[in-house]
Amino acid sequence: MLRSTLLAASRSPRARAVVENLPPTRAITKRFVAGDALPSAMAVCNELVASGRHVTLDHLGEDTLDASQAAATVQAYEKLLAALKKTGLATGAEVSVKLSAVGQFLPAGGEKIALDNARRICEAAADAGTTVTLDMEDHTTVDSTLGIARELRADFPWLGVVLQAYLHRTEADCRDFAGAGSRVRLCKGAYKEPASVAFQTKHDVDEAYVRCLEVLMAGDGYPMPASHDPRMIAHAGRLAECHSRKNGDFEYQMLYGIRPEEQQRIVADGGTMRVYLPYGQEWYGYFMRRLAERPANLTFFLRALATRS
Ligand code: FDA
Repeated sequence: MLRSTLLAASRSPRARAVVENLPPTRAITKRFVAGDALPSAMAVCNELVASGRHVTLDHLGEDTLDASQAAATVQAYEKLLAALKKTGLATGAEVSVKLSAVGQFLPAGGEKIALDNARRICEAAADAGTTVTLDMEDHTTVDSTLGIARELRADFPWLGVVLQAYLHRTEADCRDFAGAGSRVRLCKGAYKEPASVAFQTKHDVDEAYVRCLEVLMAGDGYPMPASHDPRMIAHAGRLAECHSRKNGDFEYQMLYGIRPEEQQRIVADGGTMRVYLPYGQEWYGYFMRRLAERPANLTFFLRALATRS
């Protein structure tokens, strides 16, 4: 119930206006977001890479209905990738892109615009010597996103995709995307989805995650289990061993600000850990999804508000 309310609020302009105008929001979002602009994102990225972790940077933004905003997002990624190249961080850091931020929902030819814009970002990544992963948004976008990924992979075979275990279709998508060289980030899924397309209970989502993980780990691709769940992390480790996958044949991923000690433990044990690092001014939707995931995150937010007001 609370999760549904927070996820509904994540797409409500009225709720957004209220939360964005709370006085201490910047200090509070800092736990999950690496600042408003490129310099702060680069500083945090540098720290994470120096600690042995890998990074995927996300320039925050989603659901744009404005072509000039989509073009500005592409430019922000081009600047980011040029900075990664210049500082030598491109060996440890890639980028994550939401197609809805680069035009997928634009009324006239949105899908083609998103494809062209994502291609420009892939070209900049190739020039920097790094990779791109396409984030996955709500279920209405999955066919379009996977279609764009297939087209881009003809030229950029290293392009990663995200699959969400909570969708009924995803086990089959995992089979389609488990081929050689295919980079797949497997997450549970963060959007409010109807029972017609997605498992609704934590138990069912967790079981689906395990099934999907088994398909990816048994395949020929490069699985990227993205979860903070100790049971999923342990199971990924066991499956990797069972399929003789060594460090470098798969990687763990977590979100910035969540279980940093566990991130470090995985690195200390010789695993590859990539941290999803968002930055930029459009933090609202991302931040609300994090609050919806875990009551403790909401408590943290409310406590911080109380101590600052
Ligand atoms: P879940 O939220 O079920 O938590 C399970 C357990 O993990 C908890 O019981 C607890 O033990 C532990 N845990 C979780 N949070 C914790 C915390 N703050 N502190 C301590 N322990 C904690 N989603 C999407 O729809 N599209 C996308 O493109 C992406 N991309 C993405 C990238 C990366 C790198 C990650 C890690 C996640 C995503 N997600 C996503 C989000 C994802 O779908 C999901 O909502 C969150 O990761 C939360 O799910 P968990 O698997 O962590 O488990």
